[in-house]
Amino acid sequence: MTTETTGTRQTGVSDAPEPVAAPESPQGTSASWEHDHVLDLDDFTTEEILTVLDLTDRMQEVLERRIARVPALRGHTVVNLFYEPSTRTRASFELAGKVLGADVISLSVATSAVQKGESLIDTVRTLRAMGADSIVIRHASSGAPYLAARHTNASIVNAGDGAHAHPTQALLDLYTMRSHFGDLTGKRVAMIGDISHSRVARSDLWGLTALGADVVVCGPPTLLPIGLDASQRPEHAQQALPPVQIETDIDRAIEGAHVVMALRLQSERQQGGLLPSLHEYALHYQVTAERLARAQPDHLLMHPGPKNEGIEIARDVAAGQHSIIEQQVTNGVAVRMALLSLLALGADGTGAATGEGGAA
Ligand code: MLT
Repeated sequence: MTTETTGTRQTGVSDAPEPVAAPESPQGTSASWEHDHVLDLDDFTTEEILTVLDLTDRMQEVLERRIARVPALRGHTVVNLFYEPSTRTRASFELAGKVLGADVISLSVATSAVQKGESLIDTVRTLRAMGADSIVIRHASSGAPYLAARHTNASIVNAGDGAHAHPTQALLDLYTMRSHFGDLTGKRVAMIGDISHSRVARSDLWGLTALGADVVVCGPPTLLPIGLDASQRPEHAQQALPPVQIETDIDRAIEGAHVVMALRLQSERQQGGLLPSLHEYALHYQVTAERLARAQPDHLLMHPGPKNEGIEIARDVAAGQHSIIEQQVTNGVAVRMALLSLLALGADGTGAATGEGGAA
């Protein structure tokens, strides 16, 4: 679980925690945050995205301390409520909450009262009645976290809802790209794979376009969602997705890309008959070294994980010099620390409240 960045981390409450400085955007504007919940990035302003990314920088500093613990969320309870499997997202929310001093509970739906038929609404109300301040929800149904948010005054964080959205993954993707390029304006980001069923692609699209990147999505026609092209959408749905370049030819998509992101085939969400065979898919859409030769010489290779090497991504490039897949995982902890802090404390509270006793 530990990586280069977090390798010196130790658990245990520090006797002299250092405060985290309040975020300040590179443009010098004051931090901006208006959210009770984090459901997707379509309702985030560019300033709010920058607020999260700037605070993430401060959280990285916390994680690099000899004793990576601050009492920012002491007395807060974070509940992980995952109705679908997860490794990275669930573990990183758990770590993020613990580093900030929150009480963190990870519920296993398989052994909870959900198995006795308890509804999502009853479950979140029950958790709130026990004092949950933030509830992190992953659910197979698109929209489930929105429903939960309407029925509780706990903060709901969408950790992935069906094929709809995965905003915290998108924020960590943005953070990882920004830490390499500084500014994403005009950067070409090619997302390759099962766009139709990818909640990561949808949330990334909102975030990337808000930061000025040029996005191209690429996959076989059966894995590109209907309506992706704005010209196919009715008048009332023109704003349903941001503008994006659509490609079915992987070489054209990768040409000149600064970032290439491979996406997993979401077989758990697919109907049958979308692909002739995995072999055929890999032949035409696998991200390989040969194909990456068309990207910028200093391109980044990303993947939200879990990856299926040999299908959407070749093993050698997944572990190659351009791959920043492990950095994405590492950055996930700091991004989620930033989000939990902003939800609990607001933009103004994140600096002062991370000192001992909330008074630094
Ligand atoms: C997700 O939960 O959507 C993952 O991060 C990506 C995937 O499952 O392929």
